[in-house]
Amino acid sequence: MAGVCICKYKVFKFKFSLSILLLLRICRGSISVMLSSVFRCLRTYPVAGQRSMSQSSLVGKVAIVTASTDGIGLAAAQALGKRGAHVVVSSRRQPNVDKAVALLQSQSIRVTGTTCNVGNGEDREKLVQMTLDQCGGIDILVSNAAVNPFLGNIMDSTEDVWDKILSINVKSAFLMTKLVVPHMEKRGGGNVVFVSSVAGYQPMQALGPYSVSKTALLGLTRALAPELAHSNIRVNCVAPGIIKTRFSSVLWRNEEIIDEFKKQLSIKRIGEPEEIGGVIAFLCSEEASYITGETITVTGGIGCRL
Ligand SMILES: NC(=O)c1ccc[n+]([C@@H]2O[C@H](COP(=O)([O-])OP(=O)(O)OC[C@H]3O[C@@H](n4cnc5c(N)ncnc54)[C@H](OP(=O)(O)O)[C@@H]3O)[C@@H](O)[C@H]2O)c1
Repeated sequence: MAGVCICKYKVFKFKFSLSILLLLRICRGSISVMLSSVFRCLRTYPVAGQRSMSQSSLVGKVAIVTASTDGIGLAAAQALGKRGAHVVVSSRRQPNVDKAVALLQSQSIRVTGTTCNVGNGEDREKLVQMTLDQCGGIDILVSNAAVNPFLGNIMDSTEDVWDKILSINVKSAFLMTKLVVPHMEKRGGGNVVFVSSVAGYQPMQALGPYSVSKTALLGLTRALAPELAHSNIRVNCVAPGIIKTRFSSVLWRNEEIIDEFKKQLSIKRIGEPEEIGGVIAFLCSEEASYITGETITVTGGIGCRL
Protein backbone atom coordinates (compact mmCIF):
# COMPACT_ATOMS: atom_id res chain seq x y z
CA MET A 1 0.00 0.00 0.00
CA ALA A 2 2.76 2.35 1.07
CA GLY A 3 4.71 1.37 -2.10
CA VAL A 4 1.69 2.27 -4.31
CA CYS A 5 1.39 5.65 -2.54
CA ILE A 6 5.08 6.42 -3.03
CA CYS A 7 4.78 5.41 -6.67
CA LYS A 8 1.69 7.64 -7.20
CA TYR A 9 3.49 10.47 -5.43
CA LYS A 10 6.54 10.07 -7.73
CA VAL A 11 4.26 10.08 -10.83
CA PHE A 12 2.51 13.20 -9.50
CA LYS A 13 5.91 14.88 -8.75
CA PHE A 14 7.13 14.01 -12.26
CA LYS A 15 3.93 15.38 -13.90
CA PHE A 16 4.10 18.49 -11.71
CA SER A 17 7.74 19.22 -12.63
CA LEU A 18 6.87 18.60 -16.29
CA SER A 19 4.02 21.14 -16.13
CA ILE A 20 6.27 23.69 -14.37
CA LEU A 21 8.91 23.16 -17.07
CA LEU A 22 6.29 23.55 -19.81
CA LEU A 23 4.90 26.65 -18.09
CA LEU A 24 8.40 28.13 -17.83
CA ARG A 25 9.00 27.39 -21.52
CA ILE A 26 5.74 29.07 -22.49
CA CYS A 27 6.54 32.06 -20.22
CA ARG A 28 10.09 32.25 -21.54
CA GLY A 29 8.65 32.15 -25.03
CA SER A 30 6.15 34.91 -24.36
CA ILE A 31 8.72 36.98 -22.41
CA SER A 32 11.13 36.76 -25.33
CA VAL A 33 8.25 37.56 -27.74
CA MET A 34 7.39 40.55 -25.52
CA LEU A 35 11.01 41.73 -25.34
CA SER A 36 11.58 41.30 -29.05
CA SER A 37 8.46 43.34 -29.85
CA VAL A 38 9.63 46.10 -27.46
CA PHE A 39 13.05 46.16 -29.17
CA ARG A 40 11.40 46.03 -32.59
CA CYS A 41 9.20 48.95 -31.56
CA LEU A 42 12.25 50.91 -30.35
CA ARG A 43 14.06 50.15 -33.61
CA THR A 44 11.09 51.23 -35.72
CA TYR A 45 10.23 54.26 -33.59
CA PRO A 46 13.53 55.49 -32.09
CA VAL A 47 11.70 58.54 -30.72
CA ALA A 48 9.50 56.27 -28.59
CA GLY A 49 12.64 55.13 -26.79
CA GLN A 50 13.72 58.70 -26.11
CA ARG A 51 10.30 59.60 -24.80
CA SER A 52 10.80 57.41 -21.73
CA MET A 53 13.61 59.68 -20.51
CA SER A 54 12.95 63.14 -19.09
CA GLN A 55 12.72 65.03 -22.32
CA SER A 56 13.68 68.38 -20.93
CA SER A 57 16.82 67.00 -19.29
CA LEU A 58 20.12 68.27 -20.66
CA VAL A 59 22.29 66.24 -18.30
CA GLY A 60 25.61 65.40 -19.96
CA LYS A 61 25.28 68.21 -22.53
CA VAL A 62 27.77 71.04 -22.94
CA ALA A 63 26.35 74.43 -23.91
CA ILE A 64 28.19 77.52 -25.12
CA VAL A 65 26.13 80.70 -24.70
CA THR A 66 27.70 83.84 -26.12
CA ALA A 67 27.22 87.24 -24.45
CA SER A 68 25.94 85.45 -21.38
CA THR A 69 27.00 87.51 -18.38
CA ASP A 70 23.80 89.56 -18.33
CA GLY A 71 20.25 89.75 -19.64
CA ILE A 72 18.90 87.13 -22.03
CA GLY A 73 22.24 85.29 -22.41
CA LEU A 74 22.58 84.85 -18.65
CA ALA A 75 18.95 83.71 -18.39
CA ALA A 76 19.57 81.18 -21.19
CA ALA A 77 22.67 79.87 -19.38
CA GLN A 78 20.59 79.56 -16.21
CA ALA A 79 17.77 77.70 -17.95
CA LEU A 80 20.16 75.29 -19.69
CA GLY A 81 22.17 74.79 -16.48
CA LYS A 82 19.05 74.08 -14.41
CA ARG A 83 18.19 71.30 -16.87
CA GLY A 84 21.60 69.76 -16.19
CA ALA A 85 23.84 71.13 -18.97
CA HIS A 86 27.39 72.25 -18.25
CA VAL A 87 27.25 75.87 -19.42
CA VAL A 88 30.13 77.94 -20.76
CA VAL A 89 29.48 81.65 -20.23
CA SER A 90 31.41 84.50 -21.79
CA SER A 91 31.41 88.20 -22.62
CA ARG A 92 33.98 90.92 -23.25
CA ARG A 93 34.73 91.89 -19.64
CA GLN A 94 36.38 89.60 -17.09
CA PRO A 95 34.61 91.12 -14.03
CA ASN A 96 31.25 90.42 -15.72
CA VAL A 97 32.35 86.83 -16.43
CA ASP A 98 33.44 86.36 -12.80
CA LYS A 99 30.12 87.70 -11.51
CA ALA A 100 28.05 85.45 -13.79
CA VAL A 101 30.12 82.36 -12.92
CA ALA A 102 29.70 83.06 -9.18
CA LEU A 103 25.93 83.54 -9.59
CA LEU A 104 25.45 80.33 -11.57
CA GLN A 105 27.68 78.36 -9.17
CA SER A 106 25.56 79.62 -6.27
CA GLN A 107 22.59 77.97 -8.05
CA SER A 108 24.48 74.64 -8.25
CA ILE A 109 24.91 74.98 -12.02
CA ARG A 110 28.01 73.44 -13.63
CA VAL A 111 29.67 76.44 -15.26
CA THR A 112 32.91 77.52 -16.89
CA GLY A 113 33.62 81.13 -17.87
CA THR A 114 36.00 83.05 -20.10
CA THR A 115 36.20 86.37 -21.89
CA CYS A 116 35.17 86.39 -25.55
CA ASN A 117 34.36 89.29 -27.82
CA VAL A 118 32.46 87.44 -30.55
CA GLY A 119 33.67 89.94 -33.13
CA ASN A 120 37.24 88.73 -32.64
CA GLY A 121 38.31 85.51 -34.42
CA GLU A 122 41.01 84.60 -31.86
CA ASP A 123 38.50 85.04 -29.02
CA ARG A 124 35.99 82.77 -30.76
CA GLU A 125 38.62 80.07 -31.24
CA LYS A 126 39.77 80.42 -27.62
CA LEU A 127 36.19 80.00 -26.40
CA VAL A 128 35.70 76.81 -28.41
CA GLN A 129 39.11 75.35 -27.47
CA MET A 130 38.61 76.10 -23.79
CA THR A 131 35.21 74.40 -23.90
CA LEU A 132 36.72 71.31 -25.52
CA ASP A 133 39.62 71.21 -23.02
CA GLN A 134 37.46 71.70 -19.94
CA CYS A 135 34.17 70.02 -20.91
CA GLY A 136 35.26 67.42 -23.47
CA GLY A 137 32.86 68.40 -26.29
CA ILE A 138 30.11 70.73 -27.48
CA ASP A 139 26.39 69.92 -27.87
CA ILE A 140 24.69 73.33 -27.83
CA LEU A 141 25.46 76.81 -29.14
CA VAL A 142 23.29 79.77 -28.21
CA SER A 143 24.45 82.68 -30.32
CA ASN A 144 23.12 85.65 -28.40
CA ALA A 145 25.56 88.53 -28.87
CA ALA A 146 24.44 91.72 -30.59
CA VAL A 147 25.30 95.39 -30.62
CA ASN A 148 23.52 98.51 -31.69
CA PRO A 149 25.92 101.46 -31.99
CA PHE A 150 23.45 103.65 -33.92
CA LEU A 151 20.11 105.37 -33.24
CA GLY A 152 18.54 107.46 -35.98
CA ASN A 153 17.31 107.54 -39.54
CA ILE A 154 18.69 104.65 -41.53
CA MET A 155 19.82 107.09 -44.28
CA ASP A 156 22.17 108.69 -41.76
CA SER A 157 23.91 105.43 -40.86
CA THR A 158 27.52 105.03 -42.00
CA GLU A 159 29.56 102.17 -43.45
CA ASP A 160 31.30 101.77 -40.08
CA VAL A 161 27.93 101.31 -38.37
CA TRP A 162 26.91 98.64 -40.90
CA ASP A 163 30.29 96.87 -40.65
CA LYS A 164 30.08 96.73 -36.87
CA ILE A 165 26.44 95.62 -36.70
CA LEU A 166 26.70 92.98 -39.42
CA SER A 167 30.02 91.71 -38.10
CA ILE A 168 28.83 91.14 -34.50
CA ASN A 169 25.14 90.40 -35.02
CA VAL A 170 25.27 88.22 -38.13
CA LYS A 171 28.77 87.21 -39.26
CA SER A 172 29.97 86.14 -35.82
CA ALA A 173 26.78 84.08 -35.33
CA PHE A 174 27.65 82.15 -38.48
CA LEU A 175 31.38 81.90 -37.71
CA MET A 176 30.67 80.57 -34.20
CA THR A 177 28.36 77.97 -35.76
CA LYS A 178 31.03 77.00 -38.28
CA LEU A 179 33.53 76.50 -35.44
CA VAL A 180 31.29 74.30 -33.28
CA VAL A 181 29.60 72.12 -35.91
CA PRO A 182 32.52 69.67 -36.40
CA HIS A 183 32.54 69.08 -32.63
CA MET A 184 28.77 68.56 -32.50
CA GLU A 185 29.14 66.05 -35.33
CA LYS A 186 31.67 64.12 -33.22
CA ARG A 187 28.96 63.85 -30.51
CA GLY A 188 26.38 62.63 -33.02
CA GLY A 189 24.41 65.90 -33.24
CA GLY A 190 23.53 69.09 -31.45
CA ASN A 191 21.55 72.30 -31.32
CA VAL A 192 22.16 75.86 -32.48
CA VAL A 193 19.88 78.68 -31.36
CA PHE A 194 20.20 82.23 -32.68
CA VAL A 195 18.74 85.21 -30.84
CA SER A 196 16.96 87.52 -33.27
CA SER A 197 14.32 90.12 -32.35
CA VAL A 198 10.79 91.29 -33.02
CA ALA A 199 12.63 94.06 -34.90
CA GLY A 200 13.69 91.40 -37.40
CA TYR A 201 10.02 91.18 -38.49
CA GLN A 202 9.01 94.82 -38.11
CA PRO A 203 11.98 97.24 -38.26
CA MET A 204 11.94 99.55 -35.26
CA GLN A 205 12.05 103.26 -35.75
CA ALA A 206 15.62 104.60 -35.28
CA LEU A 207 16.97 101.04 -35.21
CA GLY A 208 17.17 100.40 -38.97
CA PRO A 209 20.55 98.65 -39.39
CA TYR A 210 20.05 96.65 -36.17
CA SER A 211 16.60 95.53 -37.36
CA VAL A 212 18.03 94.44 -40.72
CA SER A 213 20.72 92.39 -38.95
CA LYS A 214 17.99 90.63 -36.96
CA THR A 215 16.07 89.83 -40.16
CA ALA A 216 19.28 88.31 -41.51
CA LEU A 217 19.31 85.85 -38.57
CA LEU A 218 15.86 84.58 -39.58
CA GLY A 219 17.37 83.84 -43.00
CA LEU A 220 20.51 82.28 -41.54
CA THR A 221 18.33 79.92 -39.47
CA ARG A 222 16.42 78.80 -42.58
CA ALA A 223 19.59 78.48 -44.67
CA LEU A 224 21.52 76.39 -42.14
CA ALA A 225 18.76 74.06 -40.93
CA PRO A 226 18.49 71.74 -43.97
CA GLU A 227 22.25 71.59 -44.40
CA LEU A 228 22.93 70.64 -40.78
CA ALA A 229 19.97 68.26 -40.43
CA HIS A 230 22.19 65.65 -42.13
CA SER A 231 24.47 65.86 -39.10
CA ASN A 232 21.54 65.61 -36.66
CA ILE A 233 22.01 69.27 -35.73
CA ARG A 234 18.86 71.35 -35.31
CA VAL A 235 19.05 75.10 -35.99
CA ASN A 236 16.41 77.36 -34.50
CA CYS A 237 15.93 80.95 -33.46
CA VAL A 238 14.04 83.02 -30.90
CA ALA A 239 12.76 86.50 -31.59
CA PRO A 240 12.15 88.31 -28.30
CA GLY A 241 9.87 91.32 -27.98
CA ILE A 242 10.79 94.01 -25.48
CA ILE A 243 12.58 92.34 -22.59
CA LYS A 244 13.72 94.12 -19.46
CA THR A 245 17.52 94.21 -19.84
CA ARG A 246 20.25 96.84 -19.94
CA PHE A 247 20.32 96.64 -23.75
CA SER A 248 16.70 97.73 -24.11
CA SER A 249 16.63 100.20 -21.20
CA VAL A 250 16.54 103.10 -23.66
CA LEU A 251 13.09 101.78 -24.66
CA TRP A 252 11.53 100.64 -21.37
CA ARG A 253 12.76 103.60 -19.34
CA ASN A 254 10.85 105.90 -21.68
CA GLU A 255 7.17 105.88 -20.67
CA GLU A 256 5.96 107.30 -23.96
CA ILE A 257 7.68 104.55 -25.95
CA ILE A 258 6.42 101.85 -23.58
CA ASP A 259 2.85 103.16 -23.73
CA GLU A 260 3.06 103.03 -27.51
CA PHE A 261 4.37 99.44 -27.39
CA LYS A 262 1.69 98.38 -24.92
CA LYS A 263 -0.94 99.14 -27.56
CA GLN A 264 0.56 96.31 -29.63
CA LEU A 265 0.97 93.92 -26.69
CA SER A 266 -1.69 91.37 -25.74
CA ILE A 267 0.12 90.75 -22.45
CA LYS A 268 0.35 94.31 -21.17
CA ARG A 269 3.85 94.24 -19.73
CA ILE A 270 7.39 93.93 -20.98
CA GLY A 271 9.04 90.53 -20.81
CA GLU A 272 11.62 89.14 -18.40
CA PRO A 273 14.89 87.51 -19.59
CA GLU A 274 13.83 84.19 -17.99
CA GLU A 275 10.85 84.08 -20.36
CA ILE A 276 13.30 83.87 -23.24
CA GLY A 277 15.79 81.58 -21.46
CA GLY A 278 13.12 78.90 -20.98
CA VAL A 279 12.19 78.91 -24.68
CA ILE A 280 15.85 78.59 -25.66
CA ALA A 281 16.29 75.60 -23.30
CA PHE A 282 13.11 74.03 -24.74
CA LEU A 283 14.50 74.36 -28.29
CA CYS A 284 17.69 72.58 -27.18
CA SER A 285 15.80 69.73 -25.49
CA GLU A 286 14.33 66.47 -26.82
CA GLU A 287 10.89 68.05 -26.41
CA ALA A 288 11.73 70.03 -29.56
CA SER A 289 13.18 67.04 -31.44
CA TYR A 290 11.06 67.70 -34.56
CA ILE A 291 11.65 71.47 -34.72
CA THR A 292 14.32 72.90 -36.99
CA GLY A 293 14.67 76.00 -39.17
CA GLU A 294 12.05 77.67 -36.97
CA THR A 295 11.88 81.02 -35.21
CA ILE A 296 9.77 81.24 -32.07
CA THR A 297 8.53 84.74 -31.41
CA VAL A 298 8.29 85.56 -27.69
CA THR A 299 6.73 88.98 -27.76
CA GLY A 300 3.74 89.11 -25.42
CA GLY A 301 1.52 89.04 -28.47
CA ILE A 302 3.06 91.57 -30.86
CA GLY A 303 2.16 90.39 -34.36
CA CYS A 304 5.19 89.16 -36.27
CA ARG A 305 5.06 88.76 -40.04
CA LEU A 306 7.64 89.32 -42.70
N1 LIG B 1 16.36 93.18 -24.43
C1 LIG B 1 15.49 93.17 -25.43
O1 LIG B 1 14.40 93.81 -25.39
C2 LIG B 1 15.79 92.38 -26.68
C3 LIG B 1 14.76 92.26 -27.62
C4 LIG B 1 15.01 91.52 -28.75
C5 LIG B 1 16.24 90.93 -28.94
N2 LIG B 1 17.23 91.07 -28.02
C6 LIG B 1 18.50 90.43 -28.28
O2 LIG B 1 18.90 89.68 -27.15
C7 LIG B 1 20.33 89.56 -27.13
C8 LIG B 1 20.84 89.90 -25.76
O3 LIG B 1 20.42 91.19 -25.41
P1 LIG B 1 20.14 91.61 -23.91
O4 LIG B 1 18.99 92.51 -23.94
O5 LIG B 1 20.11 90.42 -23.04
O6 LIG B 1 21.46 92.47 -23.59
P2 LIG B 1 22.16 92.86 -22.20
O7 LIG B 1 21.31 92.51 -21.04
O8 LIG B 1 22.60 94.26 -22.34
O9 LIG B 1 23.43 91.89 -22.17
C9 LIG B 1 24.36 91.96 -23.17
C10 LIG B 1 25.45 90.94 -22.93
O10 LIG B 1 26.26 90.89 -24.06
C11 LIG B 1 27.64 91.02 -23.71
N3 LIG B 1 28.27 91.55 -24.91
C12 LIG B 1 28.06 92.73 -25.52
N4 LIG B 1 28.80 92.82 -26.62
C13 LIG B 1 29.48 91.66 -26.75
C14 LIG B 1 30.41 91.15 -27.70
N5 LIG B 1 30.80 91.86 -28.75
N6 LIG B 1 30.90 89.91 -27.51
C15 LIG B 1 30.52 89.18 -26.45
N7 LIG B 1 29.67 89.61 -25.53
C16 LIG B 1 29.15 90.84 -25.67
C17 LIG B 1 27.60 91.87 -22.46
O11 LIG B 1 28.70 91.72 -21.59
P3 LIG B 1 30.08 92.57 -21.75
O12 LIG B 1 29.70 94.00 -21.66
O13 LIG B 1 30.95 92.07 -20.63
O14 LIG B 1 30.62 92.18 -23.09
C18 LIG B 1 26.36 91.27 -21.77
O15 LIG B 1 26.69 90.07 -21.11
C19 LIG B 1 20.82 90.47 -28.26
O16 LIG B 1 21.06 89.66 -29.38
C20 LIG B 1 19.65 91.38 -28.53
O17 LIG B 1 19.65 91.87 -29.85
C21 LIG B 1 17.02 91.80 -26.89
